[in-house]
Amino acid sequence: MKKLLLASVVALLPAAGFAAENALSYAYPVAPQGLPQPDPNQKHQAKGTPTGMQLTFREINNQFGPPDWFPNEHPTMPSVVKNGRPSHVRACMLCHLPHGNGHPESASVGGLPADYIVDQMHAFRDGTRTNNRVAAMVEMAKDITEAELKEAADYFTSIPRDKQRWIKVIETANAPENEVGPGGARFLVEGSTKTMPVGPTQIYEVAEDGEGVELRDQHAGFLAFVPVGSIAKGKELATTGGNGKSVQCSICHGSDYRGIGNVPRIAGRAPYYMIRQLADMRSGARHGKSMQLMVQVVANLTDEDIVNLTAYLASLDP
Ligand code: HEC
Ligand code: HEC
Repeated sequence: MKKLLLASVVALLPAAGFAAENALSYAYPVAPQGLPQPDPNQKHQAKGTPTGMQLTFREINNQFGPPDWFPNEHPTMPSVVKNGRPSHVRACMLCHLPHGNGHPESASVGGLPADYIVDQMHAFRDGTRTNNRVAAMVEMAKDITEAELKEAADYFTSIPRDKQRWIKVIETANAPENEVGPGGARFLVEGSTKTMPVGPTQIYEVAEDGEGVELRDQHAGFLAFVPVGSIAKGKELATTGGNGKSVQCSICHGSDYRGIGNVPRIAGRAPYYMIRQLADMRSGARHGKSMQLMVQVVANLTDEDIVNLTAYLASLDP
């Protein structure tokens, strides 16, 4: 689990607008300040890439031309996804990766309904989706044309299901020591034998291959350490609605939770992303017309319920 840039444990800075005592604030990560800068001349290569590319971090982080290490593993990419368009529309694959699975601090968009993707971009633009992670999306959503947006949405919708698998869920009382690093993702602490307790409102979503995550490698997925018993509790709540506390998710998201019509899939998605959405819907930070169907679903959920639902849904095949 080698990491390239992170030298030592850096405390997670409390994000603006999120009280430190909020039990779910860990799902809104902020990249630590003052990390060591990469050697500008050193070149890196993703494991197993057929391209032969060797890139510096400056090239890897190029907002208008990030690397596509496995160009034969996805449908033909429109230029807005691959390169974006200056000055505000950054390449979608910079953050969401070529197959749309993204990192926990962004979102998985692969296989979502095209109309849903378009609607969400409009929601970012119109201010009905806010939290400390959305600033980049808002900026892009205000500049992207409807034609570019349609191309990007059609592309991400077309990602095949077998390329959407990205998370391994592990129930445990103690996760291996991990910390927030470059980009706001979590990384295992190299060489550590220490553990961190996984309490009933805690999930640790951690890079399985830290170096790959830093290289924006679309083969480098995530491990999610979730509380013992959370998958069964989440399943119970999702399938029964918890005696009127919530509503059975399958009614709108489908019996396999892979979405129906314009309602998005919720199976196999990044836990931190899911926690943010459920908490944002509960607080009203994510609202608007299409959210009305979710109001009753989330109104009475506790933080623990949110963690349990997230653990269960993440454990399912996308
Ligand atoms: C700089 C990083 C970045 C780039 C580039 C980026 N996104 Fe995002 N995107 C995010 C983040 C962060 C979120 C999650 C916000 C949240 O937690 O609510 C997100 C969320 C989304 C969502 C919501 C997903 C859902 O399930 O509701 C869509 C759709 C989306 N992005 C589409 C795009 C498209 C299309 C592009 C290219 C035009 C793009 N993004 C480029 C960072 C990025
Ligand atoms: C009555 C219909 C309905 C029910 C029941 C329902 N949902 Fe939803 N859900 C929706 C709709 C519609 C959206 C998309 C809203 C939009 O377009 O912005 C959504 C969106 C979501 C999202 C955001 C997905 C994303 O990509 O950002 C999550 C997470 C979610 N639902 C979880 C759940 C869970 C968990 C349950 C069961 C406990 C549930 N939903 C039950 C209708 C429903």
